[in-house]
Amino acid sequence: MLETMSQQIAVIAGDGIGPEVIAQAVQILRAVDGSLSFDEFSLGATHWQASGEVLSDETLKELARYDAILLGAVGANPGSDQVPSGLLERGLLLKLRFAFDHGVNLRPARLYPGMSSPLAPRITDQGPIDFVVVREGTEGLYCGNGGVVRQGTDQEIATETSINTAFAVERVIRFAYRLAAERQQHLTLVHKHNVLVNAGGLWRRLFQEIATEFPQVNTDYLHIDAATIALVTAPSQFDVIVTDNLFGDILTDEAAAVTGGIGLAASANLNVEGAFPSMFEPVHGSAPDIAGHNLADPRAAILSGAMLLRHLGNHEGAIAIERTVAGDIAKEHGHRTTDQIGKAILSELTH
Ligand code: IPM
Ligand code: MN
Repeated sequence: MLETMSQQIAVIAGDGIGPEVIAQAVQILRAVDGSLSFDEFSLGATHWQASGEVLSDETLKELARYDAILLGAVGANPGSDQVPSGLLERGLLLKLRFAFDHGVNLRPARLYPGMSSPLAPRITDQGPIDFVVVREGTEGLYCGNGGVVRQGTDQEIATETSINTAFAVERVIRFAYRLAAERQQHLTLVHKHNVLVNAGGLWRRLFQEIATEFPQVNTDYLHIDAATIALVTAPSQFDVIVTDNLFGDILTDEAAAVTGGIGLAASANLNVEGAFPSMFEPVHGSAPDIAGHNLADPRAAILSGAMLLRHLGNHEGAIAIERTVAGDIAKEHGHRTTDQIGKAILSELTH
């Protein structure tokens, strides 16, 4: 009886600053929601170096039983051997996103009051910057659909073919419309249909078809190159942006930069159908240059924890964390360690 009430979270803290920021996020989640239990999984660069495992099918099967996954960051620790490029990206992160069918990669971008942006005041004064990028998470150029022939010769041929299925495109676009309907009723499709006529044509057609189900949502379209300009010249125009996997990857780094940096950027990899656990992770990497020094900003991990709570149905807990983090950002602070930031947010939440 009790068992069914508790929600089980698999924690993959990973490498570098991952364990430091995840410790703060877990501490806060425990305090806010007593029904959660946490199991740690050792995965990432250090684990691979020690065991040879990137992500075995057995581990994947175990992870599939959890209600959600909280992930820190993965990548070689300072002083350790390097990890071949792509090994952890393809073999761990993308394997999780693909195996658990994370069709929606949700990445909010908000310039919090008190946070400074690299954008000029005449841009940030245009209005609040508060939008969400809904990035497709399972397809596009990320599929690994390609190969190399005549490798190492001057006739080498390398291909990466973008996969776009009507099923996944429709799924992510419908999700984005629903989200826009709950927010400011404004949805922008970002693609490049003037050049990528095949994939772009599919995205555009489904975007227009699904629009008829959401008459209250205003729609817009930008080519990806124009979108990168708009994000720095008029970012307050955006409410929800929907786009493919690679465009979304690039746009969300830019979105994080204009809203004060990657230290606050949270994300959710959602399994829309609920068939597999969704995964929540800060957008930042393992930052080996500052790892082990208690210097990392844990707030992106903490905000990812809030997204996890919302996904599991604890909306009050999610809002409480988000409000408290926003309050923390609004205050003036001197230099603070990772622990001090976590502790300040925790004590504000539980006082
Ligand atoms: C991200 C990262 C990943 C991606 C890499 C590490 C596979 O850049 O989460 O944005 O490209 O999706
Ligand atoms: Mn990225």
